[in-house]
Amino acid sequence: MARITASVYTSHVPAIGAALDLGKSGEDYWKPVFAGYDFSRQWLEENRPDVVFLVYNDHATAFSLDLIPTFAIGTGAQYAPADEGWGPRPVPVVEGHPELASHIAQSVIQDDFDLTIVNRLDVDHGLTVPLSLMCGQPEQWPFKVIPFAVNVVQYPVPSGRRCFALGQSIRRAVESFDQDLNVQVWGTGGMSHQLQGPRAGLINREWDNAWLDRLIDDPAAAAQIPHIEYVREAGSEGIELVMWLIARGAMADVAGGPKPRVAHRFYHVPASNTAVGHLILENER
Ligand code: DHB
Ligand code: FE
Repeated sequence: MARITASVYTSHVPAIGAALDLGKSGEDYWKPVFAGYDFSRQWLEENRPDVVFLVYNDHATAFSLDLIPTFAIGTGAQYAPADEGWGPRPVPVVEGHPELASHIAQSVIQDDFDLTIVNRLDVDHGLTVPLSLMCGQPEQWPFKVIPFAVNVVQYPVPSGRRCFALGQSIRRAVESFDQDLNVQVWGTGGMSHQLQGPRAGLINREWDNAWLDRLIDDPAAAAQIPHIEYVREAGSEGIELVMWLIARGAMADVAGGPKPRVAHRFYHVPASNTAVGHLILENER
């Protein structure tokens, strides 16, 4: 049986990827950002998954106003890093897991969540920056990845409540797959940031940290927060945080199991326009 052993949460600021790619991670501005992930890279060496189910958002890169799936699962064998305007990032091609992805699609769709199935997809900074933060600069990514894209760009966006319920469905799907696989679910994006309009540059340290507390201790309550609170308190792009609720919903305690262990927690301002938040939760072995 496949099992979900841990969940990882992290912001996905594109400038972090550029800093790494251009050899600037040792600069004073970036050093404290990358230092927050030193533990995580070591932890990932010691807790190597077979597959990461990576919840992220596409930023009008693979999708556009032509086609706006609320939830899209990648069932392909490979995903190339996208060209977001400066050429594709010099990072490895992402290897998929078509068998597990197809099983999850079957299970979750029959569980009444309507997913869009995507066989061809270039992945943007939303997916590759979390991989870089957690893995550094390897020749190949050290595990397979199932990309799971959530629309948090063009309204209407899904509620935190629906994302949390979807995470629970993903857990049931993974646990009904009959290969012995170690699976992690990653929730990415956030924390507070607003890139546009009169409030551009908004950061809300207090709200972010209270939200992290709630995500850890009472995720069902965090799932009830309406989208308008994210926009008001965490800025227009703060809505990316609903993706963390998918990963949190996939943890054992939500299905009546023991509480997860907080292996790591990190928060740092600023990274470009964004408050960087990062969390690792482990299920009991
Ligand atoms: C920034 C953050 C994002 O989440 C994003 O998608 C693009 C830019 C930023 O802080 O610059
Ligand atoms: Fe983003």
